[in-house]
Amino acid sequence: MIIRPYEPADETGWLRCRVLAFLDTAYYDNVLKEKEHYARPSVELVAVENGAVVGLIDLELDTQPSEVCSNPDMRGAMIWHLAVHPDYRRQGIGRELLFEAMEKARVAGMQYLEAWTRDDRWVRDWYDKMGFELVQSYFQVYMDRPEDLKALVECKVPHLRPVSVFAHYDGSDKAFVFSKFSRAHETVRYDFYLK
Ligand SMILES: CC(C)(COP(=O)(O)OP(=O)(O)OC[C@H]1O[C@@H](n2cnc3c(N)ncnc32)[C@H](O)[C@@H]1OP(=O)(O)O)[C@@H](O)C(=O)NCCC(=O)NCCS
Repeated sequence: MIIRPYEPADETGWLRCRVLAFLDTAYYDNVLKEKEHYARPSVELVAVENGAVVGLIDLELDTQPSEVCSNPDMRGAMIWHLAVHPDYRRQGIGRELLFEAMEKARVAGMQYLEAWTRDDRWVRDWYDKMGFELVQSYFQVYMDRPEDLKALVECKVPHLRPVSVFAHYDGSDKAFVFSKFSRAHETVRYDFYLK
């Protein structure tokens, strides 16, 4: 297995690796058809074994605080994508990708790394294990039950009838969120301070 910079010819392998990695997570339906490209400086690495992409990481770097990341006082690198092919999990590939990307971010002058993830316990455990700190959270909710949509969503366009709504909830009533909606996720921010 080697870790090297992403190249345009990796795109199909990158997309396949990413979709497979997320299938058994809370992001199971977050599918991309094209790899993202970044307006600002970035670190884009892939882990390759026998010619196939088995892991990937993308960071986008602040050129000034708060441009991409949340901290108003520090320049950060946002982890937009991090995934290891399910057949290659728990072999240290995620850790190696992270450490190599971290070093590049540090050399580029970044002071911290920021990541957002949903409520998969094992993924959070991985961030804890890598030394990240949980600093913030909010909820993401999906509404598709007709009775919820009727009671909670008002549409101002005549003849337009929402059948599914995705929304962010930044209140603190966790019990309400998890009892009310058919699908809800606590989404958490993890930071790692670079020395
Ligand atoms: C989270 C992820 C990047 C970790 O990469 P990895 O190469 O599998 O992890 P590493 O080998 O570096 O670290 C292994 C540790 O991760 C955790 N872990 C990874 N997969 C796990 C699983 N299926 N079940 C439980 N723990 C798991 C464990 O703590 C494990 O340590 P252990 O084997 O000593 O118990 C990878 O599993 C993945 O792609 N997950 C799905 C996509 C995702 O959630 N990405 C995160 C950004 S939102």
